[in-house]
Amino acid sequence: MSETGVQLAYLAAAVLFILGLKGLSSARTAVRGNTLAAVGMAIAIAAALLDAGVLDWEWMLGGVVVGSVIGVTAATRIQMTEMPEMVALLNGFGGVASALVAGAELLGYWDAGLAPDGVVATAIVLGTLIGGLTLTGSLVAFGKLSERITSAPVVYGGQQVINALLGVLLLLVAAIVALDPLGATQEYWVLAALALLLGVLLIIPIGGADMPVVISLLNAYSGLAACATGFVLDNAALVISGSLVGAAGLILTKIMCDAMNRSIGNVLFGAFGAVGDPAAAGGGSQGTAKSYTPEDAAVIFSNASSCIVVPGYGMAVAQAQHAVRELANVLGEKGVRVQFAIHPVAGRMPGHMNVLLAEADVPYEELVEMSEINPQFPETDVALVLGANDVVNPLAREPGSAISGMPILDVDRARHVFVIKRSMSPGFAGIQNPLFFNDNTMMIFGDAKAVVLAVLDAVRSY
Ligand code: TAP
Repeated sequence: MSETGVQLAYLAAAVLFILGLKGLSSARTAVRGNTLAAVGMAIAIAAALLDAGVLDWEWMLGGVVVGSVIGVTAATRIQMTEMPEMVALLNGFGGVASALVAGAELLGYWDAGLAPDGVVATAIVLGTLIGGLTLTGSLVAFGKLSERITSAPVVYGGQQVINALLGVLLLLVAAIVALDPLGATQEYWVLAALALLLGVLLIIPIGGADMPVVISLLNAYSGLAACATGFVLDNAALVISGSLVGAAGLILTKIMCDAMNRSIGNVLFGAFGAVGDPAAAGGGSQGTAKSYTPEDAAVIFSNASSCIVVPGYGMAVAQAQHAVRELANVLGEKGVRVQFAIHPVAGRMPGHMNVLLAEADVPYEELVEMSEINPQFPETDVALVLGANDVVNPLAREPGSAISGMPILDVDRARHVFVIKRSMSPGFAGIQNPLFFNDNTMMIFGDAKAVVLAVLDAVRSY
């Protein structure tokens, strides 16, 4: 393939990546965006392999078949609730791939006895450092999410000082290797080992429930590692795609932190949820919550003309999205206007609720963002809180609580509030929710799917 052909293919791939990212900004266009980006990646890989003369078509097709079988099998087996785990692993693989390529290039320079120029040497160091850290950090994140290792923050005395010292040492060794890539052979392996170690030490103090933010950050790191490796290989497509992944990951991290009203520093170093953490302490008893039945809900719904469903993590756990879609349809037939209020961090991963409700064929027009739906609660007859807790906790409006300042959905301002959950236990933030004790709140205890199906029966036969 001619050099011009390769560069044109890279340009086409870059345009497809950008169009793909744009498509991913809305649920309606996300599938098309994903496909465009995948086509872009296929073009970039084919051009890179043909350019370098690494492989011929037969091997490439073989690779596509093997990779597709593994990818399709993994993706179809993964439950929606396990998606963050899968992304964690994929980030780790991306990171280690970049580190290995950077390392292999350096070995090539050692063999040839030729020193890489300053840019390439720095890129090799960065690819190894960020890629190594991303691999072990992502493996710890995967372990915590899948509960293969404790999801509680692992904290010990002097932890942050030790990590800071290790970080300084890592930067020193990195500078030595970058300045003398041919001579600093042993230092290179020390650099790789320190990066792997730091990846573990930086992630173990972070609680399992904060892992989505960490994964988004590690995703950004894997992009930056790929970008560095693009400079090592002088490959424009890798530089562009790595930068896009890096920037998108950082922006997503910021969006998630803002939606929780927490700084990235608090997520990374705050050990949120650690034993003895005052932020995670329960709020104590606040009165008596009133328990109601699905039949009581049917009576209230028979007099209602509007309902806002607020889904949360419990809907994902119970896989109640199809049942609630069915309930929304039946209520709609009875003249009730039903909308779904989407909090940006409801659930445990970005877009968690959107994906589940889209899977259940809830029309996009019925999914309403927080800023748009909040003014509607005072005029709404029923707010149906389905396995959500922190994102509807009015304590967020008061100073001093663990979630102070976190934007919430104002369900307590609706005329009637049904809360469906299994018990009085708190949500992710570990604090009690005064909403449950309000006069207009009716608790219906049980698994979200079972309760919604029971409400559905009751509404149908009312
Ligand atoms: P949570 O505050 O975690 O509350 C979920 C509630 O669901 C729990 O109180 C639980 O109560 C209930 N539940 C669990 N399984 C259930 C089932 N099978 N049936 C019925 N209810 C069930 O969730 P949320 O309101 O969605 O808020 C999300 C939280 O996660 C926020 O604090 C957010 O900051 C945090 N977070 C989110 C993200 C992203 S990106 N989404 C990232 C990091 C952190 P019971 O045990 O009593 O049933």
